[in-house]
Amino acid sequence: MQRDSIANTFIVAVSLCVVCAVLVSSAAVGLRTRQDENKKLDKQKNILLAAGLMEGQETSEEIEKTYDSRVKPLLINLDSGEVVEGEDPTSFDPIKDAKSGEDDLRIVLDDDPAGIKVRENKEVIYKISDSSGNTQQYVFPIRGYGLWSTLYGYIALDNDMETVNGISYYQHAETPGLGGEVDNPSWKAQWKGKKIYDIKESEGVPKRSVELTVKKGNGMTDYEIDGLSGASITGKGVENMIKFWFGEKGYLPFIQNTVPTSGIPTGA
Ligand SMILES: Cc1cc2nc3c(=O)[nH]c(=O)nc-3n(C[C@H](O)[C@H](O)[C@H](O)COP(=O)(O)O)c2cc1C
Repeated sequence: MQRDSIANTFIVAVSLCVVCAVLVSSAAVGLRTRQDENKKLDKQKNILLAAGLMEGQETSEEIEKTYDSRVKPLLINLDSGEVVEGEDPTSFDPIKDAKSGEDDLRIVLDDDPAGIKVRENKEVIYKISDSSGNTQQYVFPIRGYGLWSTLYGYIALDNDMETVNGISYYQHAETPGLGGEVDNPSWKAQWKGKKIYDIKESEGVPKRSVELTVKKGNGMTDYEIDGLSGASITGKGVENMIKFWFGEKGYLPFIQNTVPTSGIPTGA
């Protein structure tokens, strides 16, 4: 057979495709464990970043050590706000449940400010202890739509359940330099000390109301975050996801169970 015949060209092209396909798929399979480990480590890092226990330059050993000594995942039922015992929170994938299409694992939302359409029934949150083992804060997963994408992140609240300790995003596809500035450390720094809830009296009963907003301007109050320049839509998305996740259909039942409003003066 001639070296430059059509058949020869075809054989070389097909062989090359087969060799490349085998190489790519073996790399994908062989690296899967490592990818899963890196994904887990990245989540742990972002939980610790939101909690203000990391700055982002730490080694994987330091992340794992801090995570193991300070963080306890809790599986909660979002509707009742109760901790679910007897199931391992570390093997739980709430977002998979939300996407499962199974009615006993998720609900379809009527009121959907975060633009997520469906919500899982059980969620994994993270209790953070101080170095003496006392509960110091809680880290809550949040997600919601910005301009181009769903943003996935964490927000940490002090154990008073209203003061923000920090926020971090681990996945989104907003534009770098615009909506992507949600990752900017100086934008995230202003969240520390902000308040999510105001306690308002409704029919004689003190109730938590989500008051945190993301807006443009100067002179921000404890309930206001300075927006992202040229990216108001992503900023509004961040505000809306907080409104949803800290409301009745989100973490409010758990928060009420953990720190009841009775006893907290209105306007506190
Ligand atoms: C290519 C391109 C990418 C953009 N990416 C974002 C983005 O990621 N987030 C966002 O809120 N706005 C983004 N915008 C701008 C929005 O269209 C809109 O103008 C902006 O959110 C309004 O914010 P402002 O009121 O602060 O100007 C983008 C615009 C362009 C042209």
